[in-house]
Amino acid sequence: MNRKNIFLTLLLPVLAICSCFIFVCPALSIETFDFAGITLKDDQGNVTTDFKPGKTIQIEAAFSFKRAGAAILHGTITAENWSQDLSPKIRFGLHANYTAVWTQTIPSTVNGQVRVDVTLLSPLHERLVRSAFFTVTPIQAEYVGAKVCNTCHPSLYAAWQQTRHYPAVGCESCHGPGSEHVLTRSPEFIVIDTSSGLCGRCHSRNDGTVIEAEGGFIKSLQQFNEWRATAHGNVAECGTCHNPHYSLSTDRADALKVSCIECHAGKTVSLSMQTVACEECHMPFAGLKSQSSGTGLYRTGDIRSHLWRIKTEADPQTMFSPDGTALAQDSKGAFLTDNFACLGCHNGINARFEDFESVRKTSTLIH
Ligand code: HEC
Ligand code: HEC
Ligand code: HEC
Ligand code: HEC
Ligand code: HEC
Ligand code: HEC
Ligand code: HEC
Repeated sequence: MNRKNIFLTLLLPVLAICSCFIFVCPALSIETFDFAGITLKDDQGNVTTDFKPGKTIQIEAAFSFKRAGAAILHGTITAENWSQDLSPKIRFGLHANYTAVWTQTIPSTVNGQVRVDVTLLSPLHERLVRSAFFTVTPIQAEYVGAKVCNTCHPSLYAAWQQTRHYPAVGCESCHGPGSEHVLTRSPEFIVIDTSSGLCGRCHSRNDGTVIEAEGGFIKSLQQFNEWRATAHGNVAECGTCHNPHYSLSTDRADALKVSCIECHAGKTVSLSMQTVACEECHMPFAGLKSQSSGTGLYRTGDIRSHLWRIKTEADPQTMFSPDGTALAQDSKGAFLTDNFACLGCHNGINARFEDFESVRKTSTLIH
């Protein structure tokens, strides 16, 4: 039993008896108090019925004793996803006006109408209830620009400036408007979305199902469409491999969170290519943004593909739909052909093999 409860159980009966004999007994039926009502104020002391989540509210119950007396006040707050008891307060005194004040913080999840009920009880079981209502309207945070984030997150800001997300794709493109977070420094007011769908808002075309192609290359900004059409689409999110704050070219160790070999343990490469990185064959430049190089089967684009599967038995032209406007997909999804996987290097310049048929004959011998 806490102290307040001991106080209640011991003192109140005494008060009740005293007040009965000394003041009230001659006129038991006469009211001992008036309950003027409830006033709601914000943290600046202004009277209002409109509040924001996360802010504090002052609940004032004004009442008066008509003669010397005692009162217990308690209350409740109820809203759609908020229910809270207001701790009991005890007042006793002479004929005069009194106020009981509660301060509460509105949880950030509350939205809509809130009801406050306060009950005023005399020890003689006189009981008065008053109610008040207020609304909680969600905060409409505003965009403040990445420079503001820099004041508290300078290292992430510096890293971001090295990426191709800089300057157009700012912090708030991914984290939502930041004004409330900046004021409060609270994680409650900033969004972290770790789904691939966030990246897909920009790294995709159409509804994400068709991988659009043109001139023998995958069109730019379609990593989401590609990824969905692979085995990785079921086992790894973009964020499993990527930390988007860092540049792949200048901060590669931070930009890539896992290496292929962490999931594909024991995978080795033979044919004198032990030093060739997994993504050189499995994520070749089959996408095109601005510049391609080479001719015919030796052509490469300037964006790494996210297809991973190399279909060794397939002819290069079967990687695309017959009209060339999309990637072909078989029962396992989209795939790469040997020309992209091998001929970027084996083009007579970068590595010795240059004849397509002699290269492809060896492609099943690599692992
Ligand atoms: C006035 C300082 C300040 C500014 C300005 C600021 N932040 Fe923060 N931010 C913080 C602090 C402090 C934390 C750590 C909060 C915690 O973990 O309790 C944080 C955490 C975060 C988090 C992680 C939240 C989580 O759930 O862990 C993100 C994301 C974030 N900030 C993004 C931003 C963005 C975007 C901006 C610019 C719009 C920004 N911040 C501006 C102080 C600031
Ligand atoms: C391309 C989208 C994107 C951009 C741009 C971006 N972030 Fe993030 N941010 C994320 C994602 C996704 C996470 C969650 C990472 C995770 O948990 O794996 C995150 C996490 C964070 C965190 C939590 C701690 C951490 O380091 O993971 C902070 C703080 C943060 N971002 C701040 C910023 C700031 C400041 C900027 C701008 C300089 C920024 N972000 C730009 C997507 C982005
Ligand atoms: C608001 C649009 C937008 C969002 C959201 C977005 N990106 Fe980007 N991203 C871009 C653009 C535009 C580029 C530049 C493309 C180019 O240069 O070809 C880019 C480039 C990149 C790059 C190359 C960066 C470098 O410099 O190394 C990576 C990696 C990347 N995005 C990953 C992600 C991931 C992962 C997510 C989700 C967490 C994401 N992006 C969300 C628009 C976006
Ligand atoms: C299995 C790991 C993995 C997954 C999953 C993954 N990526 Fe990547 N991504 C990589 C690697 C590795 C690179 C860098 C290749 C290099 O530079 O050598 C890369 C490169 C990129 C690039 C730069 C391409 C370029 O050449 O311009 C973008 C943009 C990108 N990824 C976006 C995404 C998006 C968006 C998703 C989710 C739809 C995603 N990635 C999923 C591993 C992954
Ligand atoms: C998070 C763990 C993880 C990472 C990181 C990862 N993979 Fe995978 N990968 C898998 C799993 C699991 C499968 C098998 C999915 C299945 O069989 O359904 C797979 C399948 C594959 C396949 C076969 C695809 C097919 O359809 O036949 C290739 C090729 C592949 N991964 C290459 C890579 C490369 C290259 C990297 C590095 C850029 C990489 N993986 C990174 C987990 C991962
Ligand atoms: C020199 C090019 C090349 C390199 C480098 C390479 N692979 Fe492969 N990989 C292939 C080819 C070609 C196939 C398809 C073989 C087949 O279908 O018989 C393949 C198949 C795979 C498969 C799917 C089939 C299987 O065996 O499970 C996985 C997974 C895989 N590679 C992972 C990796 C990983 C991880 C690395 C890096 C350690 C890597 N590869 C490096 C060319 C390469
Ligand atoms: C990143 C560049 C690169 C890629 C991609 C690549 N190779 Fe290689 N390959 C090399 C290098 C470098 C050597 C070492 C010998 C050389 O210089 O020819 C080599 C060697 C070979 C050899 C052995 C030659 C010999 O005389 O010992 C074969 C066979 C081979 N590659 C086949 C392939 C096939 C098949 C693929 C595609 C699945 C492929 N390579 C993809 C760079 C690459």
